[in-house]
Amino acid sequence: MKINVLYSPQNADDLYFTEKTTVVIDVLRASSTIIAAIENGAKEVIPVSTVEFAVKVSGGMFGGQTLLCGERNAKKIEGFALGNSPSEYTKKLIEGKSIVFYTTNGSKAILKAKFSENLFICTFNNLTAVAKHLIKLNKNVEILCAGNNNLFSLEDSVCAGRLIREIVFLNSETLLSDSAKGAWALEMEFGKNTLQMLKNSEHGEILIKNGFEEDLKYCGIHNSSSTIPVLKGNVLKAMTDN
Ligand code: MLT
Repeated sequence: MKINVLYSPQNADDLYFTEKTTVVIDVLRASSTIIAAIENGAKEVIPVSTVEFAVKVSGGMFGGQTLLCGERNAKKIEGFALGNSPSEYTKKLIEGKSIVFYTTNGSKAILKAKFSENLFICTFNNLTAVAKHLIKLNKNVEILCAGNNNLFSLEDSVCAGRLIREIVFLNSETLLSDSAKGAWALEMEFGKNTLQMLKNSEHGEILIKNGFEEDLKYCGIHNSSSTIPVLKGNVLKAMTDN
């Protein structure tokens, strides 16, 4: 098993992911929001890459059972039901609903890797569950960091490093590419206090300025969930065979 890290979706084109096992990480905040939505009973999460397409998709679905959700510049989009705070995705609001989901980086990264043979969503919240599942699967892994507007993001890279560390702990024969070794080194440097690292990150600072400091706490919790969202066709659902 060999692990490679892509620090931004811009570093590969869509076909690169064909037949690959890919783990998409968007720590702030899409990964946590997707996990919360699925865990609280959403029927499915449908990632989309433009707001216009989100509106179009939801228009073609049965009324009442679909919610348009997501953010632009960290804030809920006008006309959308929910933004991108995981705590908004309560059972009461989303149970049984299809969530059409647009975010600046996360939903686009997922779609970039849509040709993967296996595509899982990871963050600190479900890290150990993902690590154990990848060990069981025993395939080469691409970790795709959603990044920040096609650039490097510290929180996604540190989380990638943490995932690598856990996998190597469980299977010491795991091979690492140079970028995977780099992510592990970043984790050693910045991963000691996850919340502090999130607060000091560029996107963390923007979220705090916009009143979303509680989301940083939520997104920084390790292993609060064992849910692994998996892409099946065009939708994300909970993986059922872990
Ligand atoms: C994203 O996908 O770009 C992020 O989740 C943005 C955010 O903080 O809502």
